[in-house]
Amino acid sequence: MDILYISGSPRKKSNTDFLLRTALSITGGRFLKLADYEIAPCRSCWVCLRTGQCAIKDALSGTIAPMLRASDAIVLGSPVYFNNVSAQLKTFMDRTWFLKGDLKNKIGGAMVVGRRYGSESALTAMQAFFLKHEMIPANRGVCGIAYQTGDIEQDLEAVESAKRLAGRIHELGKMLGHAGEHPKPQAGGNESREGGLDIAG
Ligand SMILES: Cc1cc2nc3c(=O)[nH]c(=O)nc-3n(C[C@H](O)[C@H](O)[C@H](O)COP(=O)(O)O)c2cc1C
Repeated sequence: MDILYISGSPRKKSNTDFLLRTALSITGGRFLKLADYEIAPCRSCWVCLRTGQCAIKDALSGTIAPMLRASDAIVLGSPVYFNNVSAQLKTFMDRTWFLKGDLKNKIGGAMVVGRRYGSESALTAMQAFFLKHEMIPANRGVCGIAYQTGDIEQDLEAVESAKRLAGRIHELGKMLGHAGEHPKPQAGGNESREGGLDIAG
């Protein structure tokens, strides 16, 4: 099963990354940090509606799109910024408009980390992404409470919740016939793949 973990946090030692990697350490998969890539915002040129291709040629259409198509599950993670996802994650989501139908029936996981306000709205934005693409949301999402880097390790409920999401993705993957497949070859780029447990069977 190929699981792609995508972080919208620009921060090093990010709280969001910690939760994503907690789940990744259980399921295995690839980790992609959007801030490592140059991704332009959608221009609303609508070329994709006519051609099925994105008119902007950058990391999203070049490197990341094939990774999305190859994945069985996509887990989005973001810090809460002004009651919503980060600009990095929003830009990413907008730019996937041209992938119409390509993400259908993939499993979607959502994780947000905020200090206090707006986590629910950020989760809703991610769930809207899954529904727009006719993906299958694994559950209601993980909501971490943290401010400074490293704070998330004190939020034991969020860490537990990340582990539970990993288990749920595995469960859904089995139901959909994904579990037990070997990871697919990596596309080039800054993403990293980690082994995790062998969850076959
Ligand atoms: C520009 C900006 C806006 C933020 N807005 C919110 C917010 O609306 N609500 C909130 O609870 N925390 C907000 N925060 C705090 C971050 O969500 C918090 O520090 C989080 O732990 C960052 O996650 P990260 O370490 O993965 O980047 C904001 C932080 C920044 C930099």
